[in-house]
Amino acid sequence: MNYFSQILGVGSYVPENKYTNFDLEKMMDTTDEWIQQRTGIQERRWVSPETTTTDLALIASENALKNAGIKKEDIDMIIFATLSPDHDFPGNGCFLQAKLGLPGIPALDIRQQCSGFIYGLSIADKFVRSGSHKNILLIGAEVHSKGLDKTPNGRNVSVLFGDGAGAVVVGRANGNDPKKDSHIMTTQLFADGNFARELWLPGPGFNLGPDRVNHKMLDEGLHFAQMNGKAVFVNATKRMSECLLSACKEVNVDLNDIDIFFFHQANLRINSKIAEDLGIPEHKVFNTIQKYGNTTAATIPLGMSDAVKAGALKKGMLVASAAFGSGFTWASAIFRY
Ligand code: ACO
Repeated sequence: MNYFSQILGVGSYVPENKYTNFDLEKMMDTTDEWIQQRTGIQERRWVSPETTTTDLALIASENALKNAGIKKEDIDMIIFATLSPDHDFPGNGCFLQAKLGLPGIPALDIRQQCSGFIYGLSIADKFVRSGSHKNILLIGAEVHSKGLDKTPNGRNVSVLFGDGAGAVVVGRANGNDPKKDSHIMTTQLFADGNFARELWLPGPGFNLGPDRVNHKMLDEGLHFAQMNGKAVFVNATKRMSECLLSACKEVNVDLNDIDIFFFHQANLRINSKIAEDLGIPEHKVFNTIQKYGNTTAATIPLGMSDAVKAGALKKGMLVASAAFGSGFTWASAIFRY
């Protein structure tokens, strides 16, 4: 028997503490004008010290379950996408599972950074299609704020990132008629490890010498993300456009027929460039970077959740999504919501 999957519901959560660009001006020799002009970001949320990624994920998950109308006991797998796990191991899937009170079901972490949510969606889709699992909880969540260099040295990276969580429940679809049935039509995944060091976190690491954490590493700031901003910009616009078009081609969908686009939120200029290059009207691209910054694996489900609340994403709409991130990894999805 062939099954198809659909997104049954979506939820999100962001911490309460807002940091505007003006707050950052006081920390890291930057300006509101520089940040807005180059990225579109106006403010972001950063957690208080005791809060972890799974704390945000727990609330986002509960909201997604409620939105999907699914009891937590009906979840039969957890997939967690994050680059800011509570601990190096075990994965956040296990920590979240304990907080949710769902022992026994498989809990999987994936590490595809900004593309993590679509990679997770693809995995969830395949498990549901195989018939082995019925309702999969997929989370994208990050606490970046504890890993940022908030001094002038880190300003090129630290102004970009925020904390937040989004989650979806992926369950069985009732059909796969492309014109009317809510279902995931395609997901496409790509990576090129030749670019791994263009956007990465060098330390702590098992390749650093005799100890994975050492004073030299800390003195050199290797525990802060390092980014070649220009390489990211150029590759993100190219790859996201490419994989979006390739997904459309695979399922024979015209870009003009897509009702709403959820792009990864790295930079408003990246998304504007993609929209311009592909002739997508700006009003069809749902951006949230202005208020949340870049929340990496969380950006897409967080955007979907905000869009549901705003009435911009409704059941039956044709949706396209694309992401690009560290790895480099990139991915796209087309689904009827
Ligand atoms: N505030 C003020 N000045 C800054 C800041 C800051 N936060 N950061 C850098 N500058 C300065 C630099 O020191 C430099 O000064 P100089 O000309 O005196 O040397 C100047 O601004 C220009 O720096 P560039 O790095 O060349 O700035 P650029 O115009 O390339 O913009 C940016 C940087 C916004 C990061 C851009 O490269 C970009 O958008 N890249 C895409 C990367 C991205 O979006 N990453 C997000 C995470 S990755 C992901 O999610 C896929």
